[in-house]
Amino acid sequence: MKSEHMNLLLPSFETDQEEHDERKTTETGGIGGDDVWRFKGNKAAKEAASVGMKGTLARLFDCCSKDVQKTILPLGHGDPSVYPCFRTSADAEEAVVESLLSGAADSYAPGVGILPARRAVANYLNRDLPHKMKSDDIFITVGCCQGIETMFNALARPKANILLPTLIYPLYNSHAVHSLLEIRKYGLLPDLDWEIDLQGVEALADENTIAMVIINPHNPCGNVYTYEHLKKVRERWLRCLKS
Ligand SMILES: Cc1ncc(COP(=O)(O)O)c(C=O)c1O
Repeated sequence: MKSEHMNLLLPSFETDQEEHDERKTTETGGIGGDDVWRFKGNKAAKEAASVGMKGTLARLFDCCSKDVQKTILPLGHGDPSVYPCFRTSADAEEAVVESLLSGAADSYAPGVGILPARRAVANYLNRDLPHKMKSDDIFITVGCCQGIETMFNALARPKANILLPTLIYPLYNSHAVHSLLEIRKYGLLPDLDWEIDLQGVEALADENTIAMVIINPHNPCGNVYTYEHLKKVRERWLRCLKS
């Protein structure tokens, strides 16, 4: 798909043209045809995969840009690499390069993260915590996805339910389903800057509720909860645990 806003949407899933042509030849009976591979592409899946969020956003941007003489903010854009202001800090880049060149990082690392990294995270968090964390309290995951998966699997037990916000990054739903957790949705209040509907939370929670997921800063709503609101959420949650 061609779009004048595609530069905002890279890197997208790209297909190697040569590989694509080669595959077409084999699919139509060339060398390595049906007698080699006993499976085929699925037309429905291929069509479904071609309708991605990135493509839909690009189409929307293109529709707007024809007549509207205003700068269009790409609010649906999640990849910061096209914006120079989000460039990774030179310190972080140099640390990665130094580590690679030293050869000291070529081994398999423990799944929970190497000790110096866990210690650094604990020290950083301890600046604001009344109850101090130890390095062994820190588990480093490969992004949030693995963190969500690990947490949900660790918490899951028969009959357990989990509270998720009604508007949410979709991955939480799929991991909850995969971990056989019952999903209960709590509301967000758009007129109060997407605050959590505390009364709703209390009505949903019961003795089988194993966790409440709070996304902060929120995706997709974009709000950041105030300290006061989070304090109220905590109080309400503790009340739920006692009742
Ligand atoms: C709320 C939320 N959770 C999880 C993720 C997934 O994070 P990661 O890409 O680090 O796995 C995202 C990514 O945008 C997110 O916005």
